Amino acid sequence: MERTPTITPRTAAVWEALRRELGRADGRELTVLDVGGGTGGFAVPLAELGHRVTVVDASPDALATLVRRATDAGVADRVRAVQGDGDALASLIADESADLVLCHAVLEVVDQPADVVAAVAAALRPGGAVSLLVAGRAAAVLARAINGHLDAAARVLADPSGCAGPKDQLRRRYDAASATALLEAAGLTVEQIHGVRVFADLLPAAVAEADPQALLDLELAAAAHAPYRDLAAQLHLFARK
Ligand SMILES: C[S@@+](CC[C@H](N)C(=O)[O-])C[C@H]1O[C@@H](n2cnc3c(N)ncnc32)[C@H](O)[C@@H]1O
Repeated sequence: MERTPTITPRTAAVWEALRRELGRADGRELTVLDVGGGTGGFAVPLAELGHRVTVVDASPDALATLVRRATDAGVADRVRAVQGDGDALASLIADESADLVLCHAVLEVVDQPADVVAAVAAALRPGGAVSLLVAGRAAAVLARAINGHLDAAARVLADPSGCAGPKDQLRRRYDAASATALLEAAGLTVEQIHGVRVFADLLPAAVAEADPQALLDLELAAAAHAPYRDLAAQLHLFARK
């Protein structure tokens, strides 16, 4: 039986866009590629919805967890785990083989984001779509400033890549313009941009936990609208080949 993915304020705007795309397929099984898909937070629910998902990830541990999750969910036959580097995607995935590519929280850590996006574009069939989730630069500045780390906030603000320095776990962050430029350089057309976690990371946990539905509704209401969208912890871009 088809299961409904668990929607949280951290995933709601992304699932909304994915749901629309799956709806376009009108019941047809899609070939999905999840680059840096990790433990399968999206891959397994997509397989549960009846699609075939290949996860390419650099981490054998993450892929082992993915396989366990897919097995537990009864969809191991629809999930393929491929260990590999996003920078070398072109050698792992056939050209024009995917209907939908997910690239979530990966471009911040790879060596050459433009190469990964070019490989994603090559893997897509004409008319296929990419769901790109990247760390938001403005949110990183605000979060550091609000927490009293004014030097780190200033560094993220001033750094051309939006990185706080050598100890920062992320090598770069994006705003709507820079993420759009990256996709357009690979020949993709951006259809939608949403903010993900506009408020969720700013609220005290007690507030978020008191009324999760209210937070989810607020996140969805603000997701598409500047300036809220642009302050989100992550930016979600949905683009088409
Ligand atoms: C922050 S996690 C995101 C996981 C998943 N996409 C999500 O949104 O929940 C980043 C993932 O990218 C993988 N990763 C990091 N560098 C990579 C690379 N160069 N090529 C492929 N995967 C990579 C990591 O192993 C990890 O699973």
